Order: sequence, then structure tokens, then C-alpha cells
Amino acid sequence: MGRSQNDNKIKGFFMTRHAGSLGANEILELVFKYLNKISYLRKYDDIIKVLADMGRDLTSSDRCTVWVVSEDQTKLWTKVAHGVEYIEIPVESGIVGASILQRENIIIEDVYKDERFNAAVDKNTGYHTKSMIVIPMFDQDDQVIGAFQAINSQNESGVYDRRDIERLTLASTFAANTLVSARLTEEIEETQKEVVFTMGAIGESRSKETGNHVKRVAEYSKVLALAYGLSKEEADLLKEASPMHDIGKVAIPDSILNKPGSFTPEERKVMETHAEKGHAMIKNSTRSLLQAAAIVAYEHHERWDGKGYPRGIKGEAIHIYGRITAVADVFDALGSDRVYKKAWDDERIFTLFAQERGKQFDPTLVDLFFENKKTFLEIREKLKDEFDYE
Ligand SMILES: [Fe+2]
Ligand SMILES: [Fe+2]
Repeated sequence: MGRSQNDNKIKGFFMTRHAGSLGANEILELVFKYLNKISYLRKYDDIIKVLADMGRDLTSSDRCTVWVVSEDQTKLWTKVAHGVEYIEIPVESGIVGASILQRENIIIEDVYKDERFNAAVDKNTGYHTKSMIVIPMFDQDDQVIGAFQAINSQNESGVYDRRDIERLTLASTFAANTLVSARLTEEIEETQKEVVFTMGAIGESRSKETGNHVKRVAEYSKVLALAYGLSKEEADLLKEASPMHDIGKVAIPDSILNKPGSFTPEERKVMETHAEKGHAMIKNSTRSLLQAAAIVAYEHHERWDGKGYPRGIKGEAIHIYGRITAVADVFDALGSDRVYKKAWDDERIFTLFAQERGKQFDPTLVDLFFENKKTFLEIREKLKDEFDYE
């Protein structure tokens, strides 16, 4: 049974003891340390780096690299391993290539006695490679997805043995699973970001906003989020979510949405339903990105003094995402030409923000807006709309 084979592997992994090397408890500690570290990581590149650290520590190596087979199967790449920046090599090259093509573990005492070794990297970096292990990584369908490579054993003997292979095999099994699921997660997240952004852009185009409006709002929101003290992760999340603020406008009839001139009170009421409608459209998703977008859609027209809509909530009862997007959205809307109005000049915008400090807008955010005025203006310049007058 596959199960008992697995048990043996784990037994060999935990119970063996290297002379002058790691004991079972130390290995357990290491494994837990890295499992914990990896569980906080989302990005493929970061995971590769931590997996390499784990392989290095488990085998007491000087360096360890996790190589990944490219999508078209022609290259191997790795990123920022120990002492190594992003590298890409042909899939068949060197000892790693041999291990991948033959689907075999390779263990070598002195690579300079092995004709497959490519000494060019050593030559360029001044590093001297001697002992090496390479273990291919397989996915659930038994496809090779990459390899674990450990270099220069720091054991007394200076060479690798069967127990290092066992340890690195376990690490590589774990690595393969982690990388496969990380790739899926990353793909899903990339797709989500695109969908969210596109939906946001649709919402804006329906309401005759200018082309780069949602991009600028995204950037302003991130600047404010970081200045406010949100973590980088949350600031990035808000940056991805804030372009969705007007998504509810897809549900507003064209006759109202595109009406030239001002709204009747009834029309204004209908217009204002875009906040609740946007929220209702996406609130049931459990994904953090869409949850954030639902908040932004719902609360970007609330006001600090409670006179906004749809709920008229006030102060910190308004989610920080809503408060931030409100500032970013209004700043951008006022500063851009629209079909129905010319852009306000900067002084007029700044006066309005100062007046609305603690009324329409969170006073802390207005202060942060003024502190970061230069950054805002730079973003606006960088992402300004290009009009074609021909
Ligand atoms: Fe809106
Ligand atoms: Fe907007």
C-alpha cells in the first residue's frame, strides 16, 4: 500500500541520525518552523525561496535551489535562492537537467569530476561547487514540475549520503504539493484581479468616467492605506478592490446614467442605488478580494458626518476601505475633465478637502492626503488620460 511506503519514508526521515549532523528533534523543529513560515506565504516566488531555505537546513548544505520547469517545458527557472538572483536555463542543461529528464535522484561527491557539470556559473560568481544532490519534484499526475538542488554539504565528510536523499525527498514531496497549490491559488487570484478590474472599468464606462479613473483611484487608495497604517497586504487588497466602487452602475438604466444635465430628485434616488446594488452583486463571495470590493461598493458614498448614502452611517462605523475610496474617488473625479464638467484646478480641490475635513471625509485621511499631496499629483500625472482630438 502506498500508505506504508509513505510511513517508511517518514520514519527514515525522522529517525535517522547523522554523525555531527541534525538529530530527529532538530529536524522536527526545522520542519515545523518552515511549515509555519510557508503557511503565511501566498506568492510563488516567496514560497520557492523558503522551500530552498528548508532544503538547505535539512541537509546542512551551503546552498539550496528550487528549480521550476517552465510552462512550455523548455526551461528551468528559479528566483533569489541563496546567493542567486532570477535565473533561467534550458531544461536539459547540467546536472539538474539530467535529474529532471531521467526522473532520478543524483548524488555527486565532486561535480568537477562529472562531465555533466557546467562550471560557467562558478566561474562567473567565484563560488566553488563540490558536492551536490538533485531530487526531481513530481506533481500528482507524476509529471516532473521541477527539482530540488542542494550544494556543498557542510557535514564533516563534506559529502552527501543516503539520509540526505531521504530528507530532501520528503522536502521535495512537500514542496511539490505546496507549489502546485500555490500556482493554482496564484492563477485564481490573477483571474480574480482581472475580472474585478474589468468589472470596475465597465461600471465606470457606463457612467462616462474617463479611461484611467479606476487605475488612479486604485493607486491613491493604496497610498492612503499605507499612510493610514494598514499592512502592505491590506493596502494591496484595497488597491485591487477599489476600482470596483461603481460596479453597481451596471444596474442603472441608461436613460438616467447618461442623462445630460442634472437629475430630478427621483432620478437622483435611482442613481444612488448603485451603492447597494454593487454591494448586493458581490457580497456573497467568500474571497477576500471580492469581500473588500463589496465593502467599497457599499460605503464609498458614506460621509464621515453621517449625511451620506445608502445607510447614512458615520465616523469609524464606515469601514476604512470605504472612507479611503471616498477620498480617492472624489479627488480624482474633481481633478479630471468629464463630459459634463471641466477639471477643477488644484487649489480649488485642496480648499474643498480642507473644508470637508471631518464633514464629508475622515479628518485623519484628509491630513494624510495633504501630507502625501505630491505623491497624489505624481500618480495623476503618470496615469493621465490621453485624449484623441482627431
Ligand atoms: Fe459611486
Ligand atoms: Fe469613481
